[in-house]
Amino acid sequence: MLAKHYPNYLANQPVSAKQELDVLDKYTGKRATRVALADAATVRKAIVAAYKAREAMAAFPPDARRDVLEHCVRRFNERFEELAQALCIEAGKPIRDARGEVTRLIDTFRIAANEATRSHGELLELQISPRARGYRGMVKRVPIGVCSFITPFNFPLNLVAHKVAPAIAAGCPFVLKPADKTPVGALIIGEILAETHLPKGAFSIVVCTTDNAAALVEDERIALLSFTGGLVGWDLRARAGRKKVTLELGGNAACIIDADPGAPLDHVVERLVFGAYYQSGQSCISVQRIYAHAAIYEKLRRKLKAAVTRLPMGDPHDEKTFIGPMVNDEAAQRVESWIANARKGGAKVLAGGPRKRNMLPAALLEKVPHDSELYRKEAFGPVAMIEPFDDFDDAIDRVNDSDFGLQAGVFTGNLTHAMRAWDRLEVGGVIVGDVPSFRVDNMPYGGVKHSGLGREGVRYAIEDMTEQRLLVIR
Ligand code: SIN
Repeated sequence: MLAKHYPNYLANQPVSAKQELDVLDKYTGKRATRVALADAATVRKAIVAAYKAREAMAAFPPDARRDVLEHCVRRFNERFEELAQALCIEAGKPIRDARGEVTRLIDTFRIAANEATRSHGELLELQISPRARGYRGMVKRVPIGVCSFITPFNFPLNLVAHKVAPAIAAGCPFVLKPADKTPVGALIIGEILAETHLPKGAFSIVVCTTDNAAALVEDERIALLSFTGGLVGWDLRARAGRKKVTLELGGNAACIIDADPGAPLDHVVERLVFGAYYQSGQSCISVQRIYAHAAIYEKLRRKLKAAVTRLPMGDPHDEKTFIGPMVNDEAAQRVESWIANARKGGAKVLAGGPRKRNMLPAALLEKVPHDSELYRKEAFGPVAMIEPFDDFDDAIDRVNDSDFGLQAGVFTGNLTHAMRAWDRLEVGGVIVGDVPSFRVDNMPYGGVKHSGLGREGVRYAIEDMTEQRLLVIR
């Protein structure tokens, strides 16, 4: 299904490299394909090309930007199954989740196509005192300039889309470094972008080592760095100089299940299982901490344990598979060791089992110590913990007792509780009636505290990728 080799893209053109990188099939562990591996000089050339393309991109008319994005939507639809299979191989993503991600890729580009021709400006009333009589004000948004993007392995298409599509809509040239474990999706996007008439230099996609990517963080010609990944993002920000930085750095998302969850318990269980274990929990908004009211705790725990134990694990190509491989053995080993440490600290394992290479069965724990890694850090694996509470405000305090704050979920039939959750939860988004893992691609998405800075969701990313320019006329 995959080609034997994939090139990088330098100033809109496919380029090979002296060195190539193996991309592994995450289920078999065997080499699936090879991709060009850019050196530091190529990364610098990409930045120079993008810098030269600033004016041409800014002048590229909104309808032409829309046409480029619509072309991508068309081509993604035509290559839908190929994209899904590529995800299934390079990310080990179960095929149903992989198809879901391709659908979201298409949504994200479609949202951007609509945004491309929308005016983001405003008229200002300046006559606020006699000295301003006869003055008019107008604000438009202009592209910020060159953007550098660094994306993670867990959504190789859609987290790329959340940077690339708004950049095209906003009129910004960009250089993208996709995750080296899962670069194929981004390179297929590159192949499709190369079919368009974007101005020369508008985009480059370079697979490279972290060292060779240093210029994407430090080069002063870049106006915006947008990074999605781990807490290392804060170090990148410290090295980024004067450029604007947006960061999406994950979380250890919580979900509160109230005494009256506002939905049948079986539905709540179904959603929790999806939220905690889809794509083996390798999502920044995967459910990691479940706080259930004491009145329903025992029943919920029993149902959840039964559902988790039944989850089919295996080949991600199998339509029935729910739990596929994790990205590599080290990641699975780390989560396994966090489970073992929690257990040593007094936790009870309700579901789970031994790891085989990077295959880790879905795990559910209770009585997890609050100072354990599993409680405090981002697990990014197929594991969740459950704990009872008596008082709704106490549950909110426990959700907030975290360095992270990306999204939180609340199942409640009590409107006052829903509003209190929205008021008090220290997160970027509160999802009432569902798990924190819910995301539609036009909503503002991003976190507070250690979880990051800024918001994605196309329109919000466009705000970061543009600057206000005022016009005053007397
Ligand atoms: C993420 O892992 O940050 C992205 C989650 C999503 O887009 O659903």
